[in-house]
Amino acid sequence: MSCSPLLCSFRIPAIPISKKKPIFTHQNNRLLTVSLFSHSHSNSHPQHHTQSMEVNDTITNNALGFDFLTKKPYTPPSWATHLNPIPPNYFSLAHLPTPIHKWNLPNLPKNTQVWLKRDDLSGMQLSGNKVRKLEFLMADAVAQGADCIITIGGIQSNHCRATAVAARYLNLDCYLILRTSKAVVDQDPGLTGNLLVERLVGAHVELISKEEYGKIGSVALTNHLKEKLLNEGRKPYVIPVGGSNSLGTWGYIKAIAEIEHQLQTGTENIKFDDIVVACGSGGTIAGLSLGSLLSSLKAKVHAFSVCDDPNYFYDYVQGLLDGLEAGVDSRNIVDIINAKGLGYAINTAEELNFVKEIAAATGVILDPVYSGKAVYGLTKDMAENPKKWEGRKILFIHTGGLLGLYDKVQQIDSLVGNWNRMDVHESVPP
Ligand SMILES: Cc1ncc(COP(=O)(O)O)c(C=O)c1O
Repeated sequence: MSCSPLLCSFRIPAIPISKKKPIFTHQNNRLLTVSLFSHSHSNSHPQHHTQSMEVNDTITNNALGFDFLTKKPYTPPSWATHLNPIPPNYFSLAHLPTPIHKWNLPNLPKNTQVWLKRDDLSGMQLSGNKVRKLEFLMADAVAQGADCIITIGGIQSNHCRATAVAARYLNLDCYLILRTSKAVVDQDPGLTGNLLVERLVGAHVELISKEEYGKIGSVALTNHLKEKLLNEGRKPYVIPVGGSNSLGTWGYIKAIAEIEHQLQTGTENIKFDDIVVACGSGGTIAGLSLGSLLSSLKAKVHAFSVCDDPNYFYDYVQGLLDGLEAGVDSRNIVDIINAKGLGYAINTAEELNFVKEIAAATGVILDPVYSGKAVYGLTKDMAENPKKWEGRKILFIHTGGLLGLYDKVQQIDSLVGNWNRMDVHESVPP
């Protein structure tokens, strides 16, 4: 049988369901034929059915999910081979590719299209952008013989939760340093949102006040814990805030190759003019903007920053790019817009209402801390500068963070829908 590697039509012969075990035959290392049996109820002998199924797809180990949690060699896209260093491996932790679909955001300027890249669907416990960085970071940790991971972030850090899950998947211990307010730093942090997942998977949680964090800094704090663990005979591996170092940046360089492939092989004939995303520690926009520049995408990357100011991020992203010997100026490849509002992880009622309106209008739930603020900022910018966005095809990257919404339930309570005590009359028969 000769097939195009991308679209292959082949037949699946009969198999016994009693065995419930598919038999796979690799062909050209890419294609699999699957045999099925089924049991006859009237006959104790397995009976072959000659049912056959048309499958229009290339079935690979990847598509079947068998490569999840395995270490794989990494080959960069041809346009990224000059970057240095290139990671040799990654762990398959995310469910990729994430879908892309058109998103009917209300009140768009004339002829503007918004499409959504659903990185919020990259995997439930690992949801969002963090898992893409962790694919590379965890491979490095394992290669270095680490037996535990240390990382740091805010009390509802999605990155810390994703790291805690990834570490447990790979049988590593995880130590999280979580920043919280002085008033509650000596109390049990509870189980809201990301904390529930972190504590369920057994992460060690160390609390630090915002003041101490500001004074000491994240690098010194993680180093301090690293020293302590080394003295106890452990082999810790430190991941910085948000997983945003040059190695983590490969996560979104790889994501650009994924988008490129989706556009080249998909049925939608679309070229994106812009990529829009939230920015919290800089790694995502570093990978996206460098990848978009080097690949065939050439879309302009706009980042809505939810903490610190744009100048801080231009400098930070520059450091990440320099760490890959990219030879480009961050200020030329990404447009960073301040969307911090009242402050990191602090929402106005208007922002939360916006999250609610978008969910009600499109079914897509934005997290309040990152994508919620970014899309709020984007629609505000569209309303103020419609000419800038008119007729553009925009790809918004939804970076996940749903669990952070549970931290806002009190604020959202009054915004969400009605409920009724069901009216059951005597006339309804029991
Ligand atoms: C849900 C979510 N979206 C976006 C971001 C921002 O990504 P980055 O930290 O790479 O800038 C983060 C983390 O900071 C996040 O948790």
